[in-house]
Order: sequence, then C-alpha cells, then structure tokens
Amino acid sequence: MATQQRLICLSTDLQEKGTGVRFALPELGAHVSGFVLRYDGNVHAYINQCAHLPVELDWNEGEFLSRDQQHLICATHGALYQPQTGVCVMGPCQGKALRKLEVTEQGQQVFINLSSLDQKV
Ligand code: FES
Repeated sequence: MATQQRLICLSTDLQEKGTGVRFALPELGAHVSGFVLRYDGNVHAYINQCAHLPVELDWNEGEFLSRDQQHLICATHGALYQPQTGVCVMGPCQGKALRKLEVTEQGQQVFINLSSLDQKV
C-alpha cells in the first residue's frame, strides 16, 4: 500500500516531555483518537487507548506522562507504559502494549503514516 501521511502538528508544538497532541482517527472508529509526544528527543505516536480496556489514556487533554515523567500513564487505573515502546510495565495490562503508529518528522512538521492503520480497534 502506498504511504499515506497526515500532518498532525508542528515540531515546535511538541516540547521534550511536554503535553501530547491528540488527533482523531476516524479510520479506526468514530471515537478513536491517537496522540503524539516527544520523549528523549524523538516523537512517538500511539493510539489513545489503554491496552486493557477501550479507555483513552489522558484524563486531562494532552497529559500522557506520569508525574515523574518516566512513563506514559493511563489516568483511569494508573497503568504505566514505556514511552519509547508503549509496553505496559505496571498495572492491569502489564506485558501488553499500546498500539504504536509510524511517525516521521520532516521540515519541522510531524506526520503519521496512515498506511500503518490496517485494522479497527
Ligand atoms: S483502562 Fe486499563 S489501566 Fe487504563
């Protein structure tokens, strides 16, 4: 399948360990969203859904990191995920992982690769 890219935000919108930027993913369902955030200099993108229940991670919009900024956190039950891989390291979904999306940064813009979205969640 040809690469389909969607512009999500500007690189400057993503500060290191700052708030994430949410975006709709109608390709995966009416209420499905994704998010991008910058961690250790790299931009990561995930489907905004806990690995344990179909619940969005951010209680306050764009706040995906734990208080100590070491992990992504599900605000509902406190599951912790590695920011770089999406693997759950603590919580009810330990050992499972968030669904990662392909993301690229080009010309100070952040894009996700829609051709990596192949199935409904
Ligand atoms: S709903 Fe599973 S820990 Fe978030």
